[in-house]
Amino acid sequence: MTASLKKTTRSTRKKKAVAAFSLSPAHAHLSLHFPKGFLWGTATAAHQVEGGNKKNDWSLWEQLPGKVAGGDRSGRSADHYHRYAMDFDLAAAQHMNAHRLSVEWSRIEPREGEWNVKEIAHYRAVLEALRARGQQTMVTLFHFTVPQWFAARGGWAGKDAVGYFSRFAAKAADAFGDLVDFWCTQNEPLVYLVMGYVLGTWPPGVKNYRTAWTVFRHLTAGHVAATVELHERARMLGRAVPVGVANNLISFYSYRKHSPLDALSLSLSDWVWNHAYYRETRGSHDYLGVNYYFHQRIKREEGKLVQLFVDLRAENRETSDIGWEVYPAGIFDVLQELGEHHLPIYITENGIATVNDDRRIRFLVAYLKEVYHAIQSGIDIRGYFHWSLLDNFEWEKGYAARFGLIDVDWQTLQRRPKKSFSVYGRIAGENALSHDILRYVGHGVL
Ligand code: FCB
Repeated sequence: MTASLKKTTRSTRKKKAVAAFSLSPAHAHLSLHFPKGFLWGTATAAHQVEGGNKKNDWSLWEQLPGKVAGGDRSGRSADHYHRYAMDFDLAAAQHMNAHRLSVEWSRIEPREGEWNVKEIAHYRAVLEALRARGQQTMVTLFHFTVPQWFAARGGWAGKDAVGYFSRFAAKAADAFGDLVDFWCTQNEPLVYLVMGYVLGTWPPGVKNYRTAWTVFRHLTAGHVAATVELHERARMLGRAVPVGVANNLISFYSYRKHSPLDALSLSLSDWVWNHAYYRETRGSHDYLGVNYYFHQRIKREEGKLVQLFVDLRAENRETSDIGWEVYPAGIFDVLQELGEHHLPIYITENGIATVNDDRRIRFLVAYLKEVYHAIQSGIDIRGYFHWSLLDNFEWEKGYAARFGLIDVDWQTLQRRPKKSFSVYGRIAGENALSHDILRYVGHGVL
């Protein structure tokens, strides 16, 4: 080989090496891009933000002493019922292209079989307002509250529960079907069941495993029946509207990898919480909705057979204002769990209760980074709805738990978008976690 040829080969090699280096995975994550068409949104639930709900079970429950922290009541809440247009403007300014909300059953059907046309018109206006701002709509039918008349007939434990619920679903499809992009039949059915029928800390305040089992059967059957109605009516409109459920998923972790008992307890917890509902309702999901908040550490205490959840304070773990562990990698784990269903996944809720908005920023970026990695690993994730658009009534924890991207002054009801919303807005606008946004959490060697 002549000297000059050697020289060219060397320089080509060098060029190739440079090219390879600049495209290497180490550099590729300067910006983490999300798939085209990814949905960036926020989530709310009627009773938590609207105000003026007087016909559901929660509005009675919250009057009872000791049920809600600080004696808070939903009352006028954030008055989103009247201020929704302003709130959606703030979301549109942050490039949101989707929103998840619930329609309040007790407004639409205040008495059994009686449909309130004014409230139907209201929700149509709400959905139109979202459409006008370029936001796709995901509508939840049951988000923890039921009409008082339904509760009086036994609620979800009553023998007619499935029929009542599927009739409501059919009505909602007739009333709003042309304005809905995704139906979500139920929000966190297992959380509802545990809080309302096992721990008894939410209405109807029952502590009974047998009743809880009945409720489980009715919820799953209710989802399946509602899905049939929603599909049928969408077909009549010539539309395909995906139907799913927003399930609360938990990433479980066991301390001892060598113990068969720990392994058993881990897989049992995982099966019951993360898989049983899907098993019962197999074939009736067009997408999977994931609400991710919880990481549970399972540890066996000396001399005790039963597995216990670790006291996070003992380990001085990072937690939110309401004691929920901050653990970004957990969202990656639950997304892997769901990958086996081979259905599109939407993260229907994820967020943090904190009065320190810098923490919310770090939380958001860290969790989204894990969502990005889950997508890279091959999981079909198509959207993320942050909980929540605005500060709201956090059930038994009241108003002190601040989950919002928009601050609400509870005296004046004035809105003030937090810095976290502008960070989220940049992510949505760029459809990526850019290099400087990743600096909030650190991102490896670079
Ligand atoms: C979820 C609920 C939602 C809200 C968040 C913080 O479990 O679906 O209504 O309370 O937690």
